[in-house]
Amino acid sequence: MNQAIRPGVENPPQAVATPQLSVVVPTFNERDNVTTLYRRLEATLSGIAWEVIFVDDNSPDGTWEVVRDLAAGDSRVRCIRRIGRRGLSGACIEGILASSAPYAAVIDADLQHDETQLAKMLALLQSGEADLVVGSRYIEGGSADSFNRQRAGASQFATEVAKRVLRVKIADPMSGFFMIRRDKFEQLAPQLSTQGFKILLDIVASAQGDLRIKEIPFTFGSRLHGESKLDSMVALDFLGLVLAKLTNDIVSLRFLMFAMVGSLGILVHFSALYIALEALHLPFAEAQACGALSAMTSNFILNNFLTYRDQRLKGIAILRGLLLFYLVCSVGLLANVGVAFSVYAQEPIWWLAGAAGALMGVVWNYAMSGLFVWRKR
Ligand code: GDD
Ligand code: MN
Repeated sequence: MNQAIRPGVENPPQAVATPQLSVVVPTFNERDNVTTLYRRLEATLSGIAWEVIFVDDNSPDGTWEVVRDLAAGDSRVRCIRRIGRRGLSGACIEGILASSAPYAAVIDADLQHDETQLAKMLALLQSGEADLVVGSRYIEGGSADSFNRQRAGASQFATEVAKRVLRVKIADPMSGFFMIRRDKFEQLAPQLSTQGFKILLDIVASAQGDLRIKEIPFTFGSRLHGESKLDSMVALDFLGLVLAKLTNDIVSLRFLMFAMVGSLGILVHFSALYIALEALHLPFAEAQACGALSAMTSNFILNNFLTYRDQRLKGIAILRGLLLFYLVCSVGLLANVGVAFSVYAQEPIWWLAGAAGALMGVVWNYAMSGLFVWRKR
């Protein structure tokens, strides 16, 4: 077992140097890349007390097994294997919080980032010049030539939006390569969203100008093995993050998505009601039930694919989840009507009472779905 250096105790003779730098590497299906990255870190960080923390979301390709093997031979390597969770930002947050080094870096496992910049980044933090150093593709000397045109366009668009809407001043807030003082990160951590890809943007936006940031250029290379996990849903995550930061985190990304899906449910309800009445000639009560059932079902499916895609229910769990969702929404409807009724009794303004009821309903459904339908295992 490692002998930790205890505060107030003179360094015991066999003490291991505590790391100055923790390199956090989020991984999902990176089995063929992690060993190369480890070797490159070892080569470039000689002379620095470092450790590397891989945070793997239980990759089906068994990345964590490879990391465990590396760790068995080198105590500087650690592995966090997360089960039942997915998400790049969440993995990075957990990795940084698992470290006790004064400085933490985040770097991709696929060797697209330039690990030879790490020593320079560390020096900038240690000298006190900055609290956060960003590896930037969009300043003089940096590049993202490995991007195809579509990816390049999307990245630049998101960067513009972030700069204008969130008043983020750095050139490359979408970068996934950075190093930060851990004490500063610890302060910000409770405000960060665990969902999505944009951890750096989240950090910078949440700090609201409180961080001294330096950017250094690097060339975004090509992936060594495997494929990118960024899909079109990332755009949705990005939108949600921007909205959440704009509202000062009063509304979370997940809640926003849940409410958006709910609004779409109203459309589904009316369409189904209309079809049931006009095409199927059902009596009103049955048609209305049809509408409600259709809306709940489509809300469930959309929430499973979008809102909770990091905890998506699969197989038989879908059926169980759907039934629970019906139950949650039915109680939500009672709460909705109850609140609307009591508001109306106080102040007979129909739209105010209606809005209060609807708000109660969505908040209830959101809270209870999170607890019972998509609860963390
Ligand atoms: N633990 C965990 N969980 N790791 C993940 C997950 C996840 O759900 N999704 C992706 N990763 C890991 C990958 O294994 C890889 O090491 C790293 O996060 C980056 O993922 P890629 O799939 O390679 O992303 P990319 O290359 O398309 O995007 C990169 O560049 C973007 C800038 O354009 C990332 O660095 C993004 O963060 C960055 O915004
Ligand atoms: Mn990549």
